[in-house]
Amino acid sequence: MKLYAPLRTYTPKKWDLSGLQGISDATLETHFSLYEGYVKNANLLNERLAELRERGENKAAQPSFCEIVRRLGFEYNGMRLHELYFDNMKKKPEELTTGRLYEMLGQAFGGFEEWKRDFMAVGGMRGIGWAISYQDPVNHQITNHWVSDHEYGNVAGFVPILVMDVWEHAWIRDYKPAEKSTYIEAFFRHIDWDACESRLS
Ligand SMILES: [Fe+2]
Repeated sequence: MKLYAPLRTYTPKKWDLSGLQGISDATLETHFSLYEGYVKNANLLNERLAELRERGENKAAQPSFCEIVRRLGFEYNGMRLHELYFDNMKKKPEELTTGRLYEMLGQAFGGFEEWKRDFMAVGGMRGIGWAISYQDPVNHQITNHWVSDHEYGNVAGFVPILVMDVWEHAWIRDYKPAEKSTYIEAFFRHIDWDACESRLS
């Protein structure tokens, strides 16, 4: 008897972002491949877990089970954060100068430029990870956060509004190690603000 419903597998998404200013097509191609690796691994971990559960080996004393469960946060967040990142990029976006998101960012930080400066500072931090502007669904406030790797620092239930990848693979092909801020400026030229605003509750 099968104990579990058939697994829902994830399918990689595709984006047409070629020709960005400051983020090369070569970087994007590598990046899309890395993203597909996260999708593949999220599916693989679920398959392995299903097998272990079928065999009754989903036990705390079973190291293979524990290791797979621990890795879920890395692979799932690696998949989903990349989708949010590419979804909030666009070849020729409109500048954000008015509207609900503009107002909310400004209210939270004392001005849109203050929010931007803070977000860029978070992105410029040492280490590999993500800069994310989240909205708290409880009080609707927007705050900027650093997420190490893919899984350390995400706030439960917070909604990602703007997601920026600051792993080295996102920019090191195009810039020198000391030029991360130039990548961040390039990213800002290509933020799809409409996509970000649509995530607000
Ligand atoms: Fe990435």
